[in-house]
Parts: sequence; C-alpha cells; structure tokens
Amino acid sequence: MAAITVNVLLEMKKKGEKITCLTAYDYSFAALLDKADTDIILVGDSLGMVIQGRETTLGVSLQEAVYHTECVSKGAKNALILADMPFGTFQSCPEAAFDNAVVLLADGGANMVKIEGGSVMSDTVSFLVSRGIPVCGHLGLTPQSVNQLGGYYAQGTDDVSAEKILNDAVCLADAGISLLILESMPARLAELITRKIDVPTIGIGAGPATDGQVLVLYDLLGIYPNGSPSFSKNFLQENETVLDAIIGFNNAVKKGLFPSKAHFT
Ligand code: KIV
Repeated sequence: MAAITVNVLLEMKKKGEKITCLTAYDYSFAALLDKADTDIILVGDSLGMVIQGRETTLGVSLQEAVYHTECVSKGAKNALILADMPFGTFQSCPEAAFDNAVVLLADGGANMVKIEGGSVMSDTVSFLVSRGIPVCGHLGLTPQSVNQLGGYYAQGTDDVSAEKILNDAVCLADAGISLLILESMPARLAELITRKIDVPTIGIGAGPATDGQVLVLYDLLGIYPNGSPSFSKNFLQENETVLDAIIGFNNAVKKGLFPSKAHFT
C-alpha cells in the first residue's frame, strides 16, 4: 500500500472510497494497524483514559502525546499519523498552538494534528495550515469540553445545536482543515456535513454516511475495563487474532458494513 497523505484522503473522498482510522499509542499496535492497511492511525488523547486510567482526557500532557506519537510513528510505514493536541496546548492562541504542533510533527513524527472545537478555532486552523501543518477538526462530542457539556452525551440533537455544528464544519473547512472527525451526533447531521464540505469526514457514533470511520482500538478489542460506547463494536469476538480483528474492522468499513445502518435508524 502506498503511503497515505492528505492528497490521498481527498482522492478517496472524491471516489467514494471509505477511509479507515483506528487509535494506537505504541509501536507494536501501530505496526499491526499498518500491516492491516489501516489508512490513518490516531494517537488520540483517549490515551489518558485507556493507557493512563484517568477519568477524562484532560490530564494528558504535550510531552506524553509526543512520546506516544513517536512510539507509533516508529511502527507505521504507510498509515497517516494523526496526533491529538492535548487540552490546553492549542486553545489560548494560534502561536501557542503552532509551537506545540511543531513538537508533535518534528519530535513525534506526526503528519497531521487534531484540535477540538468549532468556529472559535478557525484562526488557529488558518495559522497552522498557512505555516505547513495539516489540521484535523473535531466536532460534536468533544471530550476535552466534558465539563462544559456536563457529560459524554450526543450533540446536535436539536435543530439549534445541529445548525451550529453544521456552521462550525463550514468555518473549519473554509479555514483549511484537511480532515474532520464527527463524534456522537445524529447520522443525518453527519451526512449533511459530509455532503456540504469537500473535506473528508471520519465518524464515530455518527452513522454510516461519513467518508470514513474511527474507533478507539481498545473498544474494538473489548479490553477497556470501564465499558465501551454503544456505537462501538468488539471485532475480536468474531475473529481469532488481534490482527484479524483489525482487518475485520477495516473490511467492514471499506464495504460500508460498519456501522450498520440499522443501528442509526
Ligand atoms: O482521542 C481519541 O481517541 C479521539 C477519538 C475518539 C476520535 O479523539
């Protein structure tokens, strides 16, 4: 498989070819995801929960994100490495976001950084993009805002909040994002956004119509002790090995079989 770049992702969207994305935090799992031809490996700040045992993602530091990104990038030859920018490392101003993103790319080996938030992040996105750093947006349930959201609930479930998320997606696309994660929102909203913007969308708990799908690897393997969201699926239950479970996810996404339409209607 050829190396995945921002251009490849854009072509995939244009051709209607589904994009696969899974999280990883270390060398060995990254190598397995790469072997399974996973398109994107997300070094998510979910590492705070599944690796560090924290209750939220808020305590993850830039140094920890860089460390895990470096471990992952050593294991992946072809997948695009997407690194989450931890809470507090990009919100204050574009300059701080740039300085911290540089470390994730230069020391961690990331190809793209992910930041949570809507139109308020537009200036930061343009600042990074105009200086050579590809950015992925993240809308809907944004876990770094858990204290403001009051819990891990689906977003965009009423007309007003759905309209806001749609506008945020357009603002981020105009600002230059290369990818957009849509988390925990009605399938019809994710579909609307996916049709409206030229940027590839990756869904998690957002229905089957997005350009690709992402899961936290530990949910896919059913090994996170504190329970997995209802929209995720344990692929190890129907496969003999970890590699086969990952391949099972990738095949199901590529064929449009995961997530099932039935789950979201
Ligand atoms: O941190 C993470 O793993 C994420 C995914 C849930 C999209 O942001």
